[in-house]
Amino acid sequence: MKIAHFSDPHLGAPTDDWTALFDKRWVGLFNYKFRRSYQHDPKYLEKAVQYILDNDFDAVVCTGDLTNTGQPNEFATVKKILQRLVDSDIPVIYTPGNHDCYVKRRHCVEAVRDMVSFFTRNDYTLDDLPVVRHIKGIDFIIFNNSRPTNLIFSGAWVTKKDSDRIEEICSQEKKFPRILVNHYPIIEDQPILRMRHRLYCQGRIEKLLKSRSIDLSICGHRHFYYTKCDDTGRGELCTGSVTKNALMSEIEFKDDKFTLKKIYLEN
Ligand SMILES: [Fe+2]
Ligand SMILES: [Fe+2]
Repeated sequence: MKIAHFSDPHLGAPTDDWTALFDKRWVGLFNYKFRRSYQHDPKYLEKAVQYILDNDFDAVVCTGDLTNTGQPNEFATVKKILQRLVDSDIPVIYTPGNHDCYVKRRHCVEAVRDMVSFFTRNDYTLDDLPVVRHIKGIDFIIFNNSRPTNLIFSGAWVTKKDSDRIEEICSQEKKFPRILVNHYPIIEDQPILRMRHRLYCQGRIEKLLKSRSIDLSICGHRHFYYTKCDDTGRGELCTGSVTKNALMSEIEFKDDKFTLKKIYLEN
């Protein structure tokens, strides 16, 4: 069982939508113009797609921040690049990031909903989450914590309803290894330093992860690659930004062990 994981491409675009001046998008657009557009190269998302198509994966997982400010024109750009994955027969799991759920404007909310349905080929909708999907001997628990927030906060929190649901899923007899998929890291070692960016109310999920009721959490949000795993590959993997680091992950599950491999997309 071989899984491809990429995250945080942050594809941005200028806007012709004047309403962006009146919500958080102007912050994101400013950020994009003066910082992110120099840091994130869309060609690495294209290379990731090509690598996945060329290398016989059983599943693809994307943990969000496909866009910079969650605008319809940004999603349209991303869709063009991801179309070949959607046209393939590889199962796709996608959960949005905070930048995909940037503001409450109706057309932006509709755009991220549409993206979930498009990328997963209508396998599930944003409103269906959390859901469990079984793919070739692995149970994926997919959930979403990304919602619009204020100007200075890019963190999120797990709702009680989602914690209840995930505990209920994990209380059932475990027949297969469980991989948790969401945008935010569950294990937080710097809660004070990262108070503006972290995931809150994740303690119950973290317990399930640390007791190995959940085997592996895969996420993004932080833009560099790191793992907090034991020698069986159980724990947490953050793959970082595909377009910033020219990097994606390959996760192989074999003989009760996860092998995590960095895939460099530079060449
Ligand atoms: Fe991000
Ligand atoms: Fe993020």
